Order: sequence, then structure tokens, then C-alpha cells
Amino acid sequence: MRHLMSPLDFSVEELERLLDLANDIENHRDKYAHACDGKKLATLFYEPSTRTRLSFEAAMLNLGGSVLGFSSADSSSAAKGESVADTIRVISCYADIAAMRHPKEGAPLVAALHSGIPVINAGDGGHQHPTQTLTDLLTIRSLKGRLGGLTIGLCGDLKFGRTVHSLINALVRYENVRFVLISPEELRVPDYVREDVLRKSGHEFTEVTRLEDAIPELDILYMTRVQRERFFNEEDYVRMKDFYILDKEKMRLAGPEMMVLHPLPRVNEISVEVDSDPRAAYFKQAQYGVYVRMALILTLLEVNVC
Ligand code: CP
Repeated sequence: MRHLMSPLDFSVEELERLLDLANDIENHRDKYAHACDGKKLATLFYEPSTRTRLSFEAAMLNLGGSVLGFSSADSSSAAKGESVADTIRVISCYADIAAMRHPKEGAPLVAALHSGIPVINAGDGGHQHPTQTLTDLLTIRSLKGRLGGLTIGLCGDLKFGRTVHSLINALVRYENVRFVLISPEELRVPDYVREDVLRKSGHEFTEVTRLEDAIPELDILYMTRVQRERFFNEEDYVRMKDFYILDKEKMRLAGPEMMVLHPLPRVNEISVEVDSDPRAAYFKQAQYGVYVRMALILTLLEVNVC
């Protein structure tokens, strides 16, 4: 039985197969409509979510399966003190596969260790968000035709943004990827990402503060929101929250082929006037999230569709 805790749980070759499957699903939806008939997905969300939970549910419904679960800790027996380990033991009796989001780093791993069914990490604290990374990789590969040979700017809250940490981990496995890390001093990537992942990989990376200086050289601009829920005090959040606002003026500095991605939700960091720019790909990215989660469910449940 296989779980997904980190994007690195798949080798580069396995990842290629998963992304190929996602593209096949995109192009032949009917072929997969009954692939998971009779199977159940449990969504165990101890933290708020729109895209991840609902795209997982849409993915399982698209495959002919059904879904059950909870969308907040308050509406589960966690509110009475039940442990993650006990919860997953019970859920293993009700469902075939589970996706878990939790505010504590490592909680989905604890679940996986006690589970009788595959567990997918749907985001754990400020640590990892592997299915967002699969979504990002599918979006980049589908729209750019490759994952190597790109200059990628990651902008915003690089300290708490788990999507950024997961994406960097995944992209260092491809050749000639250059990283431009754009953040205020207080929100730079954690040391373990800078030293243990980026520096060890040998990939070129720079850290800058001004988006305007970085944007002309980028193939991809990956915007992120400042993670209010991870700040210890509101005053610091308020000081940081509008540090970057991508607007039409800044988009004029970018190349014609640069793509803007964002895991969403956005707050103010991308002005709505950018939405109509053909380089804005963040809503397309959300659609790719359904295809890649369908591919992931099929892979972990070992369902083959001919
Ligand atoms: N991208 C993402 O994780 O969105 P949600 O928090 O809405 O699931």
C-alpha cells in the first residue's frame, strides 16, 4: 500500500507517468467515468480548504466513486480529543482512500503509519502540499511543454508557504531550472530549504526583494499569498500582507510568454485586472488540479484503465 506525503515519494519516471495519465484523463474523460465505481474517498480536513477538498471530491465523483468526510476539526470527534491515529483507524473501515489536511506538520504521516488505506497529504501546516505540487507540475508541463530549462520566480510568503517548499523540492530534480526567490527579508525561504534543498542541488538561485527587478527574466511567476494563519501576531501580518501586488503595470515588464501561476486563494497579491491577461494561468491551474488528483487516486488504488 502506498501513501503520498511528499512530491518526492514519486520518482521522476513515476511522476512522468502520473502526469501523462492526467493529460490522458483531460483528453478522454469518458474513458475514466466508471474507473472507481464502488470506491469511496474520505476527505479529512482539519483546516479550511476550497480547492483541495472540492477538487479531490470532484476527482472521485468523476471516476464514478463516492465521497465522505468532514471539512473542519470542529465537526469531527477531534473536537472531543480523538487522535489522528484513532481517527484514521476508524476511517479505514469506511473508505478505500483518504486525503488529509491538518495544521500540524507531520499529522498526515502519523495517519499513514496507522492506516489500513492509502493516505494523501493534502497540506500539513507550513510543511508540504504535494498535491498542489502535482497540480503545478502538470500546469507547467502542459502549458510550457517541459519542466526543465525554465527560470521560475517564486514571490511572496516563502517562509510559511508550503506550496513553495513542495514545488522547490520537486523542481530541483529537473535540469537547468533557475530559481528567483522574491520575498521581503522576514519571509525568506527557511534555511532548510535554502541550504538542504537548493544549495545541495547545485541549481542556480538568487534571493531578491523587488518583483519589478526580477520579472523581466522569468518564464514562470509563481505568486503566493501571505499566510495570515501562520503569523504569531496580527501586526506583522498587516505590515507584510500587501508587500507585493501584481498589476498591469508590473505585467508590462514581463515577457510575452511568461505565465503567472498562483495556488490560490489570492487576497490582494494579484490585482483582478490581471485576470484577463492571456499570461494569467491560475484558474486553468485549478482545473488541472482535478485531472492530477484523478490520476493520483487511480495510481494509489492501483486501478488500470485500458
Ligand atoms: N491551493 C489550495 O490549497 O487551496 P485551498 O486552501 O482552497 O485548498
